Amino acid sequence: MIREVLRMGDERLLRRAVEVGRFGTPELFALLQDMRDTMAHLNGAGLAAPQIGVGLRVVIFGVTANPRYPDAGEVPDTVLINPTLEPLSDETEEAWEGCLSVPGMRGWVPRWSRLRYAGFDEQGRRFERSVAGFHARVVQHECDHLDGILYPMRIRDLTKFGFNEALFPGQDLPQEE
Ligand code: NI
Repeated sequence: MIREVLRMGDERLLRRAVEVGRFGTPELFALLQDMRDTMAHLNGAGLAAPQIGVGLRVVIFGVTANPRYPDAGEVPDTVLINPTLEPLSDETEEAWEGCLSVPGMRGWVPRWSRLRYAGFDEQGRRFERSVAGFHARVVQHECDHLDGILYPMRIRDLTKFGFNEALFPGQDLPQEE
């Protein structure tokens, strides 16, 4: 079922989400189906459960490579529950981000360049990956939602935050997260 995505200003986006305690349940599968339906409907690159008003540490993401956006590489379709993130170096990089909870806008956001993330799938199987660049950025963006952090809170230079049409007139932009 397509759910309403909460927008910045809604207090529920600012809470710390709680860990999932039971895997493989009908409730968890239903939540994930709603998240997939909602993300697909909005053509998003990722979605965190708090964005549909569910305060659980569940995110989904996935991006198909698109030659129009060479900086946004392919990211496998992933369900990530109770995640942990660990940067693999001090290196950071900045790039434009958008968010389904901040529709129609982009900001220039610093993120760790390389990190290892770990967590569980919907059946409770643990997995971990070491990633860099765009994949690392998407994971950091989604996991921030679980701690009540929206990307505008991470922008260092607020002159690089604005509406898509004003920042990039006439351009077709990559997906929001
Ligand atoms: Ni977002």
